[in-house]
Amino acid sequence: MRKPVIAVDGFSSTGKSSISKIIAEKLGLVHMDTGALYRGVTYYALSCCMNDHGQINLKSLLSHFNEIHLDFRNINGCLELFLNGKNICTEIRAAEVSASVSLIAAQKEVRDFLLDTQRNMAQNGGVILDGRDIGTVVFPDADYKFFLTASIEERTNRRFKELESLGYTVSFDDVAENLQTRDRIDSEREVAPLKKAGDAIVIDNTFLTKEETIQLMLSYIKDI
Ligand code: DC
Repeated sequence: MRKPVIAVDGFSSTGKSSISKIIAEKLGLVHMDTGALYRGVTYYALSCCMNDHGQINLKSLLSHFNEIHLDFRNINGCLELFLNGKNICTEIRAAEVSASVSLIAAQKEVRDFLLDTQRNMAQNGGVILDGRDIGTVVFPDADYKFFLTASIEERTNRRFKELESLGYTVSFDDVAENLQTRDRIDSEREVAPLKKAGDAIVIDNTFLTKEETIQLMLSYIKDI
């Protein structure tokens, strides 16, 4: 029997990636963190396409697509992102990448460039993808679609604790502002904005633990 394609979209810091990873393990699916691809292109741009003012030169980036080869490889059961043969799974989490990725993800050419990579990986099913436009653009016919949300206070709290545990000293207000800015850019962009698919199941996990969220999502998934 063909395994399903599951789309998990939603706001930043709703736990999309970590939850999708656990669901993939439980159901024997492959997990694809599509935000990593946008981060990969951003990392490339920051390394190779800067102008004299220290800003990303978008024109240069768009002319370099044929030199950007991104692929996910299975490392001990986890899909890790490689850029031209180099594992960049740590580099793409750097603050400079987070600060520029929404700008890069808003470019139509970048989104078109990454569309095939996402579709090719999931063409045979058995995949759970998390992102912003999976249920609306990448896989509008996905077998299951979820849209995760939570209050801005709760999401800020989670992100703040995560950054603290990684050793970063940050202010609560800065974290809140950064999350809101990213959500605004992602939701307001013209191409494939962050938006709930009409047929997506909305999960507000403001008052749910990660495990409760996972159990709730699993309760909707049948016949696997
Ligand atoms: O999930 P994340 O924070 O790693 O995503 C990084 C950025 O990429 C974020 O600004 C949203 C964007 N993104 C997107 O536009 N479409 C996707 N399918 C996944 C991520």
